Amino acid sequence: MEGAISKPPYTRRIAVVTGGNKGIGLEVCRQLASDGVTVVLTARDEKRGADAVEKLKALGLCDILFHQLEITDSSSIAALADFLKTRFGRLDILVNNAAVSGVEHVQEVDTNEEKRLEWVLKNIRDTVDGAKKSIQTNYYGTKHVIDTLLPLLQSSNGGRIANVTSAYGLLRRINNEEIRQELDDIENLTEERLDELLGKFLKDFEADALEMHGWPVGLAAYKVAKAAMNAYSRILARRNRALRINCVHPGYVKTDMSMSSGVLTPEEGARSVVNVALLPDGGPTGAYFAMGQEASFV
Ligand SMILES: NC(=O)c1ccc[n+]([C@@H]2O[C@H](COP(=O)([O-])OP(=O)(O)OC[C@H]3O[C@@H](n4cnc5c(N)ncnc54)[C@H](OP(=O)(O)O)[C@@H]3O)[C@@H](O)[C@H]2O)c1
Repeated sequence: MEGAISKPPYTRRIAVVTGGNKGIGLEVCRQLASDGVTVVLTARDEKRGADAVEKLKALGLCDILFHQLEITDSSSIAALADFLKTRFGRLDILVNNAAVSGVEHVQEVDTNEEKRLEWVLKNIRDTVDGAKKSIQTNYYGTKHVIDTLLPLLQSSNGGRIANVTSAYGLLRRINNEEIRQELDDIENLTEERLDELLGKFLKDFEADALEMHGWPVGLAAYKVAKAAMNAYSRILARRNRALRINCVHPGYVKTDMSMSSGVLTPEEGARSVVNVALLPDGGPTGAYFAMGQEASFV
């Protein structure tokens, strides 16, 4: 077209981090930006997100942009995709970090408590509403973000997805042998079957029949949602050989989610995530990483 000015190609890598306003996500943004990556820090709340960007800019990290993203809202995800398409035409790194625990706290955490994890587990309560929220956010929200941004990742020369998972999502948490095997049989597992299994889990939750059917108890929905996300990540990695799609457990980290009861700092937890997000070309895909090492999903 006469008079059209073509934009020079954007040479720096571009990353999107979900739930980037605090905790591990904020630290992932800081570390990626320090590594020379252009970071789109996203947060569901405009103010919390903008404040986080200001904090990072105050550290001298200028190549950080904010975009609102509520991962359970399809119009919010679509708006982010449009922004990325218009601004960059592609996406190189997607860090799916946003999540909720989906449990209620019975009382304020005692920070002086010696056996902190034990104390936290004794003082949280699973609820039906929390379980639904956990499945909707941690599995379906994350899946929807991935599915919508996938074409942009496919436009990159080295697309990477790092799904922040948890050791609670390992298959050993599920006592039901059949379900465990199905979730590990990635060649035959389908998205539709994952939907059915999650529907069955929520039905069993409401009927107070989790234990009877071999589902985890205690942070039940968080564990099942992360196990489902791990399985979906493996399915996607098989379908998208040109991308590197992996899951990473950050360790037990002091954040709001752990009620500051973790043993690692957000900086230490985020380091594991960033290492997976920056895996070299030809590196592993469809894998799970914990403590900096590739490990089993089981
Ligand atoms: N902390 C640990 O010990 C630990 C261990 C294993 C795995 N992980 C995983 O690490 C990741 C980060 O956790 P964290 O410990 O840093 O937790 P956190 O401090 O509670 O941060 C969670 C982040 O997710 C965002 N978020 C929640 N729901 C969202 C939604 N619907 N849409 C958009 N953003 C949403 C939160 O936003 P708001 O500020 O608006 O709520 C916040 O930015 C999670 O995937 C978690 O499962 C943590």
